[in-house]
Amino acid sequence: MSARLLDGKEVARRMHAEFVPRLQAVAGRRGAPPGLAVVLLGDDPASRSYVTGKRQDCAKIGIRAFDHDLPADTPQDALLQLIAKLNADPEVDGVLVQLPLPRGIDEARVLLAIDPDKDVDGFHPVNVGRLMLDQPGFRPCTPNGIVQLLLRHQIATAGAHVVVVGRSHIVGKPLANLLLNKGSGGDATVTVCHSRTADLAAMTRQADILVAAMGRPRAITAPMVKPGAVVIDVGMNRIGQTAPGRAKLCGDVDFEPVSQVASAITPVPGGVGPMTRAMLLHNTILSAERRLGLA
Ligand code: GUN
Repeated sequence: MSARLLDGKEVARRMHAEFVPRLQAVAGRRGAPPGLAVVLLGDDPASRSYVTGKRQDCAKIGIRAFDHDLPADTPQDALLQLIAKLNADPEVDGVLVQLPLPRGIDEARVLLAIDPDKDVDGFHPVNVGRLMLDQPGFRPCTPNGIVQLLLRHQIATAGAHVVVVGRSHIVGKPLANLLLNKGSGGDATVTVCHSRTADLAAMTRQADILVAAMGRPRAITAPMVKPGAVVIDVGMNRIGQTAPGRAKLCGDVDFEPVSQVASAITPVPGGVGPMTRAMLLHNTILSAERRLGLA
């Protein structure tokens, strides 16, 4: 191991401390803390574990979490009605519907139903458009967390060649847009690779900053990494799963060999994951601040 470890847990802890005065300002103005509605359909173990983490974070820093755990066979109309109710509820600043949704529910339809000004995930088409146009809006939490992690480790993105492997709506595409935008945490030259990229290793070897977000365990191996590159591992692959909480997490990067080549690398767990959660808290506080004219 020669690479510097990019510790997301530590950065997230520092961010939590920065949230305190913002939370106090919101509570002082409104008499109530920010509120986040977290909607979970069904009992997918990975989704359950993510949602539990989000709710624990809210409790820890003093955001009010409204839990809505619904059965997997909840009709789409019932979910849409719940979202309409949460959109109208003045105590709710953020509405989060955990993805993926059970079969039979139209994800695009559900995301479109969330008020864009409560869309703390940044998944509504209006917020996707705002990101592309570099206008104020909610930025998706994982891409925003990755940019924060780089900024807080003084890793410059301006002029860097960032290669993103994975083109998902949650990570790859929004991250590419964030990095392309002008200013702090942006100004990068971005290449997006995916399962149909002709010679993946030839592309990844050009990266100053390599982001692995394709959801394939240990797919990025040492020969695919340029010596001295910064490697960001977004993978959360559950290996040898027996019971919820028991699964061993494995990234998209072959950690040990790659850390001999890279200059800096994120661990899994403890790298990108805590940053995603911190950015959700940030977006929820930001939503309350905007509603109160504090932001
Ligand atoms: N599923 C995987 N990642 C996410 C996320 O960031 N937000 C939501 N709502 N669902 C997810």
